[in-house]
Amino acid sequence: MTAPPPPWHDGPLMKATRREPADRVPIWLMRQAGRYLAEYRELRRQTGFLELCKNPDLCAEVMLTTVERLGVDAAIIFSDLLLILEPLGLDLEYTPGGGPVLHNPVCEPRDVDRLGELENIEPLDYVVQTVRKTRAGLAPELPVIGFAGAPFTLAAYAVEGGSSRHYRRVKSLMYRDAGAWHALMGRLCRAITLYLNAQIDAGAQVVQLFDSWVGCLGVDDYRRYVLPHTRSIFEGLRSGVPAIHFGTGNPALLPLQREAGGDVIGVDWRIRLDDAWDAIGPDRAIQGNLDPVVLLGQPAEIRRRAKELLDQAAGRPGHIFNLGHGVLPQTPVENVIALIDAVHEMGSR
Ligand code: CP3
Repeated sequence: MTAPPPPWHDGPLMKATRREPADRVPIWLMRQAGRYLAEYRELRRQTGFLELCKNPDLCAEVMLTTVERLGVDAAIIFSDLLLILEPLGLDLEYTPGGGPVLHNPVCEPRDVDRLGELENIEPLDYVVQTVRKTRAGLAPELPVIGFAGAPFTLAAYAVEGGSSRHYRRVKSLMYRDAGAWHALMGRLCRAITLYLNAQIDAGAQVVQLFDSWVGCLGVDDYRRYVLPHTRSIFEGLRSGVPAIHFGTGNPALLPLQREAGGDVIGVDWRIRLDDAWDAIGPDRAIQGNLDPVVLLGQPAEIRRRAKELLDQAAGRPGHIFNLGHGVLPQTPVENVIALIDAVHEMGSR
């Protein structure tokens, strides 16, 4: 006799990852816990961001209270994309108001050799504990989403040392020294694969790879410099655990992102959802793609825009409703709740 599946297995989000019909369209939001919430800002008055990320009890609490308040269909772990760069030897700081900075970026090809290898998960054990505690505290029918940065986005941070306008440094390294570039990407990919599998082993039901900066690349460069690396991550993940592959900035990359891997492709608002699904193909699920700025407007407009996206998905199984990128800090929480309620109501079958 086989054991019955765990309670989360047949919820709307897990069904969507498998493109099975469900009784409603699932929704969660990137950056659903964060500065737009007064409780979060209050917590941050006493705790630095890095300190918070390294405190699994607090991380779990932040996400669990947010999920309860919003009524979303999944919890993503509360963590950050850049933490994985610390054990590789990069000196990470979140400056107040100014975003993340890496004080010793990879400037020259030879700096790639200076980076360490993530030999085991020990230095990121606090993230593993965050997954465990989030899973333990979450309603059993909801899945926990683990995540990591995609190799291009992490390489861009490692080389630029922070956010960037033209990605001049990272692209120059890529164009100038293919050997150093592939060595850097290989090192990141091994670390990311180890990290995501550790999150899966600790209880994540789904993982998402964030390629937030990849849209600065053209199609041919993506194919040559990124696709084989990103693919190696999807190929190295524990089998049977669905993966979401999120990219932003350049819809022309969608067919290649699909080729690189992922059961679900995450899409931003620069392309219509139905056109994106055509570009990706019917044999993948899709996540997206409301413009986060819509949440700064009126609830009636939010509802109208949600309806438009649901109409484009047209009831096809495999749509996970989300924004095309993270919730902006200026967003009124009532608007976030209005969106979630509208999707649950209009996306019920
Ligand atoms: O709610 C969630 O989605 C879970 C937590 C989460 C955070 N960061 C918390 C965070 C997730 C999934 C991320 C991913 C992340 N981090 C990405 C990919 C998604 C995206 O937005 O493209 C990126 C690029 C980062 C890197 C990063 N971390 C930046 C650029 C910044 C500063 C600017 C900003 O948006 O705040 C951070 C800090 C950060 N990560 C905060 C939070 C809640 C704000 C920190 C604070 O409290 O001041």
